[in-house]
Amino acid sequence: MNHVEEIRLRMNIEDLVGGYVQLKKSGRNLKGLCPFHSEKTPSFMVSPEKGIAYCFGCHQGGDIFKFIELVENVSFPEAVRILAEKTNVTLPKELPKANNKRIKNIEINQWTTKFYEEELENNKNAKDYFLNRGLTNETIKKFRLGFAPDSFNKLKNNLIGKGFDKKDLIEASVVNQRSIADKNIYDRFRNRLIFPIFDHQDNPVGFSGRIIGEGEPKYLNSPETPAYNKSLILYALNWSKKSIKEKDMAIFVEGYMDVITAHQAGTQNAIATCGTASTAQQLKLIQRFTKNIAFAFDQDSAGIEATFRAIELAQMADLNIKVIIIPNGKDPDESIRNNLVGWQSAVENPISVMDFYFSYAFRKFDKENMDGKKEILKLLLPIIKLYRTDMEKGEYLNKLAMELKTDVRLLWNDLNHTSIKPSYPSSQAKKQSPETNEPKKRIFSREEFLLGFICNYPEIYKKVIDNLIDNIPLNPNTERFYNILKKVYTRESSMDISNFREELSKEDREQIDIYTLLIDEFYPDFSEELAEKEIGKLIREINRKNIHNIQKDYEIKIRKSENPEDKKNLLNHYNEILKLTVKI
Ligand code: UTP
Ligand code: MN
Repeated sequence: MNHVEEIRLRMNIEDLVGGYVQLKKSGRNLKGLCPFHSEKTPSFMVSPEKGIAYCFGCHQGGDIFKFIELVENVSFPEAVRILAEKTNVTLPKELPKANNKRIKNIEINQWTTKFYEEELENNKNAKDYFLNRGLTNETIKKFRLGFAPDSFNKLKNNLIGKGFDKKDLIEASVVNQRSIADKNIYDRFRNRLIFPIFDHQDNPVGFSGRIIGEGEPKYLNSPETPAYNKSLILYALNWSKKSIKEKDMAIFVEGYMDVITAHQAGTQNAIATCGTASTAQQLKLIQRFTKNIAFAFDQDSAGIEATFRAIELAQMADLNIKVIIIPNGKDPDESIRNNLVGWQSAVENPISVMDFYFSYAFRKFDKENMDGKKEILKLLLPIIKLYRTDMEKGEYLNKLAMELKTDVRLLWNDLNHTSIKPSYPSSQAKKQSPETNEPKKRIFSREEFLLGFICNYPEIYKKVIDNLIDNIPLNPNTERFYNILKKVYTRESSMDISNFREELSKEDREQIDIYTLLIDEFYPDFSEELAEKEIGKLIREINRKNIHNIQKDYEIKIRKSENPEDKKNLLNHYNEILKLTVKI
């Protein structure tokens, strides 16, 4: 048996936590004062059944290992060592296998990076592409940019010549295999410009390959490998960490070219996620270097959506957040090439999250007509209401009154009738107030509650799959869980939570445990019958919200589209959606 599992068997969560916190029985769980923040009424819940301890005040906690990590402020391996001692489990001396795989993977990536670099020097067309986009030779060298030749086996043969096995190349994903049975392997990246991706300690962990010119996909990325955990990697952190510390600020941009052009232009604290939304782990990583971050995402609707989501996530991570509105272009790369001074001044003057919401609201809705005004209020009032002082509220209401050409007294009245839960952009948007140390209240989404119910009552999943409308975007924080649930259900024709949990990463399992506990916390004496009713309600609300959002997006797109052909297509889609609405 794995030593981590052995420790888990030997140590109960309640005994472990009981050594730090006085616990009292509460239903089938135990409760005590939270060891992670100061409080007078206990909100720290320990579930012997689920083996986890979690605070619903400050939202910290997890299993026995996580508890030790938090309470002793140590890393996971250190927590394992501490618990091994407490439980008399002997730890293995050798490195776990995954680590050896990782080392081999990195070694392959090092050779591969070098190979692509040399190929770039031999291919004038590829080299000119970078030069034409304004990169200097020095920049190309620093970021170790490369070129994957138009060949199915040049890299493969090169690496096999260096003594690597096929098996290792497959594991590192520098080659593809047509099928599991097929013994033939071929180079993954062909005729593409290569951006090697490094972790913050300078290890090459993966690659992204851009097509020369137009085509799909524009960027082909390495999949996750033993070396490459996408949710933990921030592109260019290895080159920017020094500047991030010095400037005490990190700037998130969307693309590789944005990062590189920004660095070349002197914005050396720019980083990017690698073609994914930013994750809580990435924000945790950045906190080692700074508490201040700014988002400079593209000026299109996808970029704005990404900004909303990133703000929401970053607010939970207790970071100070700003937004950089990119001038003179759709992304930083264009902006810098069009007007360097404009970019620099935007970077020097990031705007507050509230100003960003304002500018978004006024761009999205027309403040000159009544419907537009109402939408603007609907968006901004719930956010303004989150401020603690009337002074702050007043400042934003005055601004709003001026823009909408109305009397601020009327807006105060509207504000008092506004419920605090913002309808959009985010149900969890809230303002941080730096002067208090109060833990931030986290509002859980309906999707999260529904997951909690499913984990407590897996039989009910059938009802979920039958009723949750498919093919519409779920909340981005929970979408992957629903996808995996569906996969497991399709495979097994029934829902078994332990099969579901096996498909999850360690972090995601912790997340799921919290959702499971959520039900104990918010529905202390629920029955199966109550759960059924509640689930029905949640599903209806989620369907309604999703469809409503999509409908609104389409309405805007239809209004804006100029080409009659596009408009026709959009209208067709829109009608399909209306049909769905009838169903709920
Ligand atoms: P963009 O489509 O905005 O490209 O994707 P870009 O960064 O402006 O690239 P250039 O300037 O045309 O070369 C932004 C980021 O999204 C990811 C990549 O990380 C990219 O940098 N992406 C995009 C992919 O992973 N795959 C794709 O097919 C497209
Ligand atoms: Mn670009």
